[in-house]
Amino acid sequence: MFIPAGGWFKYELEGALRLLSRIDFEVARTPGHCLRFAALGLAVVSECGHFEFWGQVPARALWLAFQLHDVGKMAIPWAFLSKRRRLTSAEREMVERHTEFGENILEFFREWHRAGRLKSPLGRFETTIGLRLAREIALYHHENWDGSGYPRGLRGRSIPFLARVARVVDAADALLFPRGYRGADWHPKKALEFLRQGEGKIFDPEVTRAALRLITPVAEAACPECPNPTCPLLQASLLQ
Ligand SMILES: [Fe+2]
Ligand SMILES: [Fe+2]
Repeated sequence: MFIPAGGWFKYELEGALRLLSRIDFEVARTPGHCLRFAALGLAVVSECGHFEFWGQVPARALWLAFQLHDVGKMAIPWAFLSKRRRLTSAEREMVERHTEFGENILEFFREWHRAGRLKSPLGRFETTIGLRLAREIALYHHENWDGSGYPRGLRGRSIPFLARVARVVDAADALLFPRGYRGADWHPKKALEFLRQGEGKIFDPEVTRAALRLITPVAEAACPECPNPTCPLLQASLLQ
């Protein structure tokens, strides 16, 4: 991820994104999570409206910010992320600290970017905005609407909007897509039910309703036999 540049080392943002996708694929066994997260995050922001503000923010900056939500996982012992066994409370506490580690890592990225030492796939303005938003998302994406989340226990609208979107999107992705550590006991309709039940408790009600408007037609169109472990589509998504 470090590349020499005229005597200085430059940090390559694309390298961090590649590393995160490898952590998703090989360690956490949630292949494609960051990409789906960013895609659904953008769709939910757009479905929520507020175009007078979010319409001004470059979509590529939002894309970058959502993809970096779990950047703090780079600093967690990877054995804890693979979840092959039940974590002890000390290990779980460490995993939960990926939010604060993420904030710290993004502060470094922002400093290097300001100093011209961060190579980014995006333009300078988009990178500046993207990293600022990424910091908020990384730190607060496990806060719950009712104050029961971490790391700060913020509640309601004191949680930044994009972090409230991220909370719903993270849960939706975990529930809707097969994960390596979970058997084939999930069903898209169960995911919808879980999201509905969490509205106003774990999840921001407005954001939940927007996400449900997007996800419901897709989940309801799912094959009635889902999850059928012999389904070639399921096999393909587990193997990708
Ligand atoms: Fe996370
Ligand atoms: Fe995540």
